Amino acid sequence: MVPAHVPADRVVDFDLFNPPGVEHDFFAAWKTLLGGPGLVWTTANGGHWIAARGDVVRGLWADAERLSSECLAVTPGLGEVMQFIPLQQDGAEHKAFRMSVMKGLASRFVVALEPKVAEVARELIDGLRPQGRCDFVADFAEILPLNIFLTLIDVPLEDRPRLRQLGVQLTRPDGSMTVEQLKQAADDYLWPFIEKRMANPGDDLFSRILAEPVMGRPWSVDEARRMCRNLLFGGLDTVAAMIGMVALHLARYPADQQLLRDQPDLIPAAADELMRRYPTVAVSRNAVADVEVDGVTIRKGDLVYLPSVLHNLDPASFDAPEEVRFDRDLTPIRHTTMGVGVHRCVGAGLARMEVIVFLREWLTRMPTVSLDLGKPVAMKGGNVGACTALPLVWSV
Ligand code: HEM
Repeated sequence: MVPAHVPADRVVDFDLFNPPGVEHDFFAAWKTLLGGPGLVWTTANGGHWIAARGDVVRGLWADAERLSSECLAVTPGLGEVMQFIPLQQDGAEHKAFRMSVMKGLASRFVVALEPKVAEVARELIDGLRPQGRCDFVADFAEILPLNIFLTLIDVPLEDRPRLRQLGVQLTRPDGSMTVEQLKQAADDYLWPFIEKRMANPGDDLFSRILAEPVMGRPWSVDEARRMCRNLLFGGLDTVAAMIGMVALHLARYPADQQLLRDQPDLIPAAADELMRRYPTVAVSRNAVADVEVDGVTIRKGDLVYLPSVLHNLDPASFDAPEEVRFDRDLTPIRHTTMGVGVHRCVGAGLARMEVIVFLREWLTRMPTVSLDLGKPVAMKGGNVGACTALPLVWSV
């Protein structure tokens, strides 16, 4: 049922988990909403608003006063079960917890981590190269961020395989685990590390964050679990999706591979531009006050979806938005790939470093990589869109 305050000309049927043609092209599927009204109401998934124009996406994302992050609304049960810190917090509470997390991920630590991340990437690439082909998603994109995360929290190598299966469920859920089971499995895995770091801090990411008092007191066990869960869930499928899209771009545009090999100093700018061009995250908000926007009213209690793709690929946001231009001026960062405003990704610096390291190590250690034209590239929709299959080949 469409609520009475939604004008008929704003109603669409758009299932963000399965938009039309998403299996072939996630971006084209979302772009079917561009060019119409700036805010539409979809009847799919119980009914909710979708911001469908760049300025509306960005403007609403910045409005943390009237749009709450508390309930991760669209995926049923997700918010209630996960209780992420700081992602699902609002106001002063959010600010206090976020500050501690930000300190743990400060740029000096990100810089210090780079050699370790490069080592993890090299190890994986060197294992792949003699094979001459791979499914980049299963063989690389899903593994790299997981291994990096485990390195960040200082998990010994022999403990890593236990999280591999869980990592697959996080990045490519096959429905075999409920949200509750997924949360439990993550908590069971993480708890021994959290407990140790709380009792005996080291210099890993969890220790650094948990050593920062929140509102002048130590973290409670429950808060520590919710924060560590947020870092695990926030930093795996997003990075896997991004690296998948970057690898897809390189395979489609061999001239860009060559350009970045010839001029590696372009790699940081290339990482920024590729992150702008291939935004995969869409977030949801719950209105806690009426919001007038684009000639309609989002009523208190309504859900709004904010897809970064409809900001970054709107020609009103960026000139020729689908072209990848390594010399595009992106300063200050105006794209919404990592969000906007008070919830902007706390892992943004780390994620950027991971993409830069991936580009550098991949282009240095691999020959020209192409799509395996005999097999299809496949994609999926959802809160984080991604390639689900990316068959690549190269000569050995
Ligand atoms: C390319 C990779 C990544 C992308 C595209 C991405 C995207 C985002 C976006 C769009 C948000 C804003 C959410 C909102 O407004 O509701 C966000 C928040 C967040 N991200 Fe990331 N992220 C990435 C990597 C990471 C990594 C590596 C980590 C952790 C190590 C991380 C941890 C978080 C956390 C904890 C938040 C919540 C921040 C807050 O609510 O204050 N993310 N991310």
